[in-house]
Amino acid sequence: MLIGAVDSSEVSPRPSGLDELDRVLGGGVVPGSVTLVGGEPGVGKSTLLLQVVAAWPGRALYVSAEESAQQVRLRADRLGAVRDDLWLAAEMSLHRIIAAIDDLSPELVIIDSVQTIADSDIASAPGTVVQVRECAHRLVQEAKRRNIAIVLVGHVTKEGGLAGPRVLEHVVDTVLTFEGDRHHALRMLRATKHRFGPTDELGLFEMSDGGLRGVPDASQLFLADRHAGTPGSVVVPTMEGHRPLLVELQSLVSSSTLAQPRRSAQGLDQGRLSMLLAVLEQRAALSLAKYDVFTSVVGGIKLAEPGVDLAICLAVASALTNRPLPSGLAACGEVGLGGEIRQVSQTSRRLTEAARLGQTTVLCPPSAPNGIPGLKIQRVATLSEALAAAGLRGRG
Ligand code: TYD
Ligand code: MG
Repeated sequence: MLIGAVDSSEVSPRPSGLDELDRVLGGGVVPGSVTLVGGEPGVGKSTLLLQVVAAWPGRALYVSAEESAQQVRLRADRLGAVRDDLWLAAEMSLHRIIAAIDDLSPELVIIDSVQTIADSDIASAPGTVVQVRECAHRLVQEAKRRNIAIVLVGHVTKEGGLAGPRVLEHVVDTVLTFEGDRHHALRMLRATKHRFGPTDELGLFEMSDGGLRGVPDASQLFLADRHAGTPGSVVVPTMEGHRPLLVELQSLVSSSTLAQPRRSAQGLDQGRLSMLLAVLEQRAALSLAKYDVFTSVVGGIKLAEPGVDLAICLAVASALTNRPLPSGLAACGEVGLGGEIRQVSQTSRRLTEAARLGQTTVLCPPSAPNGIPGLKIQRVATLSEALAAAGLRGRG
């Protein structure tokens, strides 16, 4: 067959009704596809997927293999998820689940969870590798044959292990991970594998009494409780996929009594922090050897991109010298081992977001573009220059 003769319209995504989910999926749920949603117990997988079937514009079936129909109904009431043409099966048997799909012909099926269903033809217990893989295989066949979308819920432990999600990754079309810190309301949804689109988009939700709510303006949320004028606090425009986010980094530096002072990086990469501290010592003559250094990202989000390097350095220097950064100042840039400030990706999107949230000056690498109205771009070539520009040089 000629590649040009293949009809691709069958795999166009259908919007789910949950904007943050659609953002991660690159438009929506693809008919005939199988998606695995992994996450730790309690993160909110069942809540998310109940909201997905509630918002779905057509017939949907929610299979609960963990909770009774009554329990699911109670939660659905709480979420306002009870609607016409939303079907519920409290069922653990794969054969009966497939019979229900036969019966109802739904467009979307949720299996909560893949570790608690079982094919009675297989002797192994639910949750074992054999059982999980077999059930998933069968469901993938059903999804393709009927051109319906199936979503499997899978529990993962902190270590990412368990006979579940890992063995399924190559069987399914899309793998989403749902993460969040127990102590924060923020939940993050990411695609780690996606046959129909990009994998670098981030979806943000907030867990509330009424279930998960999308957070379209995350920067606003992250900066809401910021106390400007505190030493050690720096605003950084970072990128998650195509989404610019303005977040606050904090550092605290205090004299240490330990032979090996503490270096703590919450939401940041520990190795990266060590490297940046070494660069601060060697290239900017900041003496940190006798101090404990704590750094954290406010709001429970994790930052793994080098574009936040400069902001980390400024936060540490500001904490060490006990001087706040000038108000309205943000910083973005990668820091090289020579102490040079390097270009980051999608600078103009970062700068636009900084300007939108009221920042007035951004310290940037020399190559930064011009022309963001209302925003002063201050180019710095080295870490020393950046410290001077932020008023962190001299006494201290
Ligand atoms: P749940 O969806 O059951 O998690 P999972 O399926 O991943 O194990 O949700 C777990 C937590 O979410 C639970 O501790 C209670 C909380 N929650 C809310 O805060 N608000 C709500 O509206 C709902 C339904 C749950
Ligand atoms: Mg659950």
